[in-house]
This record gives sequence, C-alpha cells and structure tokens, in this order.
Amino acid sequence: MLDKHVAPLSEIERLHSELADRAALADEDAWAMPAEYYTSEAFLQVEINDVLRRDWMCIGHIGELRTPGDFFTTELFGEQLLTVRDTDGVIRVLSNVCRHRGNRVAEGSGNAKKFICQYHTWTYDTAGALKVAPHMKKRRVFDQSKCGLPEFASEVWMGWLFVNLEGNAISLASRVGGLEVVIENYHQDQRHLVHMEEDVWDCNWKALFENFMEGYHLSATHLNTLHPITPTKLCQKMVSGEGWTGYHACYDPDYPPREPFHPDLTEFERNNSPMYGVYPNLMVGMGTDFTLFMIIRPDGADKVRIRWGVTGQDDTPESETTQNYVSLCRSFNIEDKEKLEILQQALQTRTYQGGPLAPDDFEGTIWDFIQYMARKMGHVQSPGKIP
Ligand code: FES
Ligand SMILES: [Fe+2]
Repeated sequence: MLDKHVAPLSEIERLHSELADRAALADEDAWAMPAEYYTSEAFLQVEINDVLRRDWMCIGHIGELRTPGDFFTTELFGEQLLTVRDTDGVIRVLSNVCRHRGNRVAEGSGNAKKFICQYHTWTYDTAGALKVAPHMKKRRVFDQSKCGLPEFASEVWMGWLFVNLEGNAISLASRVGGLEVVIENYHQDQRHLVHMEEDVWDCNWKALFENFMEGYHLSATHLNTLHPITPTKLCQKMVSGEGWTGYHACYDPDYPPREPFHPDLTEFERNNSPMYGVYPNLMVGMGTDFTLFMIIRPDGADKVRIRWGVTGQDDTPESETTQNYVSLCRSFNIEDKEKLEILQQALQTRTYQGGPLAPDDFEGTIWDFIQYMARKMGHVQSPGKIP
C-alpha cells in the first residue's frame, strides 16, 4: 500500500503547469518532462487519483484463469481485489473484503468452489453472493441477499484483463478501435499464455512505459539482443489514438523470418512487430511468432511492480522455441532495467535536464504518452492530436 504524502502544493502545481505547457507545444518541439515528474511522491498520488483509479488498469491475462473457480488476489491502490472465473465462465473482479467485518475472503491464488472467510466463516460463491453466515438469521437487520461482495467494472480485451476502480470509465474497447485495425491479422486473442513472471525495478512507472514504447534505444541499449532483429533505424511510428500509442519495429531484412506466421499476415505484417501501449499500464511487443507483454503499476515514485508474460500461437510453455523466446526477453529486460535504474538516479542530480525528444518514428510514442497524461489531468491537448 502506498503511503500518503503531504507535500507543498507548489510541487504539484509546478508539474501541472509543466504538463499544460507540454500539451500546448507543437509535435516538432516535443521535449522530455522534468525530473520531478518521475520522482515526486505527491504527484504520484495525483496520478493515482486522477488517472490510474479512473482509467482501465490491466491486472492480468485470462490464461491465468483457465477453468471455473480459478482465482488470484491482488492489492491495487489500497483496494483488495479477488479476480475469479465464475461457474458460467465469466471473469469477475470482486472486492476481497468480507462484508461482515472486513477480513480478506481469499489469499494468494488457486482454484475454489467457494470462498470461506477465515475470521467467522461467512462463505461466498464464485459470483460473490453470500451463501453462509453462521447464526446471522437470528438478526433482524441481516439480509443475506444484500451482503454479496461488490464487483468492480472489468473488461477483457485481446485476452488481457482490465479493471476500472472508479467504475465510470468509457468502454476500453471503444478507445482502442484504431489499434485493433492495425493488429487484427496477428489474432492476438487466439494466442496462449505460455509464461508469466514478476519483477520489481527501481524506477518510475512512467519511465518504464516510455522506455518500452520507444524504439530510439533499440540499437544502442540492445546491441546484441534486439538490434539484429529490430534496429532503431527501421522504426515506424503508428498514428495513435485516444487510448493507445504504438510503432512498428520492422525486422532487419537479413534476419531469418520469424515463423510460423498466421496465414492472414500481409507481407508488411510478416516483417514487423507492432509495439503498442494501452494507457496507462499495459505494454505489448507483438512478434509474428510470440507476444511479450508487461503489466506495470507504481509502488512509490521510484519503484515499479511488473508482471510480464509471453503468449504464443501454440500452448507449449516447455517447448524449446518458447523457452528461447523467454530467455531473449529476460536478456533485454536486464538491459532495460539497468538503464532505467541509472536514469532514476540521475533524476536526483542537480544537473539533470530533460532534453528534446527524438523524431516521431523514434520517440513520438513518449510524446503521445505525455499528451495522454496531460489530457487526463485536464490540460488541453494540442489541436488535431487525437484521431
Ligand atoms: S470478517 Fe469475514 S466472517 Fe467475519
Ligand atoms: Fe528496451
């Protein structure tokens, strides 16, 4: 759980003003944000309240909940969540707070037909309805039908599971229509979850989003891992939308084809990985063969919790090709982590100044993300920015 930080208003006001100024700049004048944007605990609380709680947060993949009764628990910005596949196959995100006196009704992950709160054994089904409450029928004020676990708004998109804590965000699917057109032939919704692991990096969550989403660093930072496959010089920015940004990481013509292809892929699609970020916390690198994704959340201004996974066209977690791809991901993740942790330290120096961003194909996605944050915080976006 994140601490509540009370900070001088001026720090928050300064960052609001910086975001408003950025939103008013022309795209050609794109400029990186100042250090405080990535280090201020007070501003992080503003982000949580104004952006992250109000928007669709990715929390997992449906491959983690394959059969009815499969569940996992998680804490998100102070809320306790119990995500479960119900007997009818529907995935629900329930409150993991007992309606009696607040104990958690489930811990960890697993498979359950019912959830028995270990404090006084109130028992709920997988839809969150209260089924058993010992001795309570003798109580006039007790109405069993009104003591179910509250359900949070949730959506599944391309196999990823999203929750909206505030409950009034417009449909996620309606904000990523432009992206669906770009990626439809890859058939991401048919890919299987073949790997998942967790990590914690000592950097700001937005810095990680920006890093994943820009191709400018591919050749330099990933000289031996990604440069031979997707060199910086071949990056092509997509025209992004309200809820997402992305670019095409095109393959070096000398690199062997990344097979097997889905037969629907066009020649261009066979030769690039769409890299996209669904705001605010899902990033995806969708190769012709495998997909890497990262689900992130802040844990303080200088720490980010990561759940990253891989989906493949075949449900073969143990195969050599899957394991080779996971190893490649681990290798370039180490390279990114190292850079981002150095960057976070640099933000504490007095000499740090954010500089101009590289042209659209290379860092236009960072610019899109800054514009998104500005929009969410009520600052006017530059004209014509949102298709
Ligand atoms: S707090 Fe859950 S049964 Fe009492
Ligand atoms: Fe990277």
